[in-house]
Amino acid sequence: MDSISLQQEVERLRQEIEYHNHRYHVLDSPVISDAEFDRLMARLREIEEAHPELVTPESPTQRAGAPPASRFRKVRHPGSVLSLANAFNEQDLRAWYERLVRLDDRVEKADFVVEPKIDGLTVLLHYENGRFVLGATRGNGEVGEDVTANLRTVRAVPLRIPVDPKGPKPPEKLIVRGEVFMYVKDFEALNERLIASGERPYLNPRNTAAGSLRQLDPALTATRPLTLLAYWIVDGRAESPHTQWETLQYLRDLGFPVSRDVDYCRDIEEVIQVSRTWAERRDQLPYEVDGIVIKINDRRLYEDLGAVGKDPRGAIALKFPAREVTTRLNDVVVNVGRTGVLTPNAVLEPVEIGGVVVGKATLHNFDYIAEKDIRIGDRVLVKRSGDVIPYIIGPIVEARTGEEQVYQPPKTCPSCGTEVERLPGEVATYCPNTSCPAQLIRNLEHFVSRGAMDIVGLGIKIVEQLIRQGLVRDVADLYALTREQLLTLEGFGEKKAENLLAAIQASKDRPLARVINALGIRGVGEVMAEDLSKHYRSLDELSNASALELQGISGIGPNIALAISEWFQRPANQHLLEKLRAAGVWPVEERQPAAAEQNRVLSGLTFVVTGTLPNYTRDGIKELIQSCGGKVTDSVSKKTSYVVAGENAGSKLDKARELGVTVIDEAGLLKMISGD
Ligand code: IVH
Repeated sequence: MDSISLQQEVERLRQEIEYHNHRYHVLDSPVISDAEFDRLMARLREIEEAHPELVTPESPTQRAGAPPASRFRKVRHPGSVLSLANAFNEQDLRAWYERLVRLDDRVEKADFVVEPKIDGLTVLLHYENGRFVLGATRGNGEVGEDVTANLRTVRAVPLRIPVDPKGPKPPEKLIVRGEVFMYVKDFEALNERLIASGERPYLNPRNTAAGSLRQLDPALTATRPLTLLAYWIVDGRAESPHTQWETLQYLRDLGFPVSRDVDYCRDIEEVIQVSRTWAERRDQLPYEVDGIVIKINDRRLYEDLGAVGKDPRGAIALKFPAREVTTRLNDVVVNVGRTGVLTPNAVLEPVEIGGVVVGKATLHNFDYIAEKDIRIGDRVLVKRSGDVIPYIIGPIVEARTGEEQVYQPPKTCPSCGTEVERLPGEVATYCPNTSCPAQLIRNLEHFVSRGAMDIVGLGIKIVEQLIRQGLVRDVADLYALTREQLLTLEGFGEKKAENLLAAIQASKDRPLARVINALGIRGVGEVMAEDLSKHYRSLDELSNASALELQGISGIGPNIALAISEWFQRPANQHLLEKLRAAGVWPVEERQPAAAEQNRVLSGLTFVVTGTLPNYTRDGIKELIQSCGGKVTDSVSKKTSYVVAGENAGSKLDKARELGVTVIDEAGLLKMISGD
């Protein structure tokens, strides 16, 4: 293919990819499958790898994250990035309005837009001729930090506008202001993953989003579920609509994500009515808000009203009451999770926070209690935000009476008494006993749940009964249950027993992905189980995979890879697998495995590695290449098949270019290995 048509194909692919990316991440309505999307990406990568000169910073392939920086460059904003004055109640809001009317009588006829005040991190996105060229944090309002490389990894940030070629043509220069944040459910899933892999969970979505955006290593930012909502045009306004309401639509048309929870109000009375609906709406939003923002709709009027200090007069934030209260910490109870992780929970003197009575809060882990010096009997500051489980911010040291007790973490499991363990480098404390009743209950609950074996009618009550009666000692025992045994349980009649047995029987046909998920391996959820089932046809194949091999699968990091291989090596689990096999719970997928060949996928190829790679050490990558049948040599020659280059690659890279040897990066190599 000649270089012009190749360039055209690259253009077409990028446009198509960004269009589908926008449908998925912004509109939440994809029109192609993930596999089709992956194919488009793979094709673009293939071309870019063969023709590095065609790579541009706006290419969707660059969303994986650029090499780490040592610090952020400072950026002077084109003008002051204004803040907002606060109102705390309706009275404040009316006073604001009346002040404005006195200043300018046009305000009397003004209409307004009411928007959620997203609790995230403010960013300014600069576009030149439709290309995303710079992203900055607000900083002190005058000077911010250049976080362009990190923002490129945020899928909701358009790299080129309009995303849809049929959209409006943006002005030559456009600066859009928005908030980077995390959906509560993504935040919780991130924390679950961290806890499952023995790492420290985060406190709240806002700080996590802020911390993630300010990572020096963009590849790390790329792994965080950050997203964006845009709400303002800072520069380029001359060519944009004359009202805020139309501006929001204009931003949407350009391809920016814009909140749907916005209201148009004809006058201040409507603003007040709408603001009253927010007490309830607040909890229904999938992200955290700390108030609402009321803006004069007419931009001309807004501009004419000017600013007081750093606050524009024509807009105001109505802050929600803080959901922080103090109460007494009565006790600390310890919960044993499915994977044996012990988590401390606070038992509080019940207290109302924002209309909800709270009696329990999370204490995250034992280190957290020690670091914050939280003692039993302390007055503690508790925060409830959105749907997140309430958590303890810390003790009110001044309120201590001297009666408070320093908390001692348990040395043994509160459920079975086995001595607890802590793995080096991990925060979590575990109960190592795989037949611990508390774990067994959680394990069984997980095993029968909808995303796993989906055994209808087997709720927590029955799970507890089965374990208490000694009828079930591991998940495989479910398949040996008899009608007679079930009839001995309270609440069971003929019909119920038969239905349950039929449901258990039916679960034997579940596909491999569900069975892998059902096993409850630390860090392996539905999505990862699905990925694993694409690489291995059966539990036999999966159980033989080494940690190193597992790491070659995209999305599986070293901790999880190790957790998987260790799980299969444990004798108790091997015994469990044999029981499942004997019971007929042993799906074998028909199709060709991606991984059986994967072992030798690099055979016949010679590699040279140069520079610093983002995730692997030099030895680590050599081992990986060799384990897949490839050869690694030190110097580049005509016989070299690929040069794997990282940051600061030197003369070997030049040599490769000279000899026309294909240069790939770490991600490219991992893709070759995993075959997708
Ligand atoms: S308007 C001049 N709208 O809240 C325009 N700000 O206390 C001023 N924020 O850090 C900003 N959601 O970035 C506006 N829908 C929204 C907002 C919003 C969140 C942030 C803003 C600033 C803070 C002001």
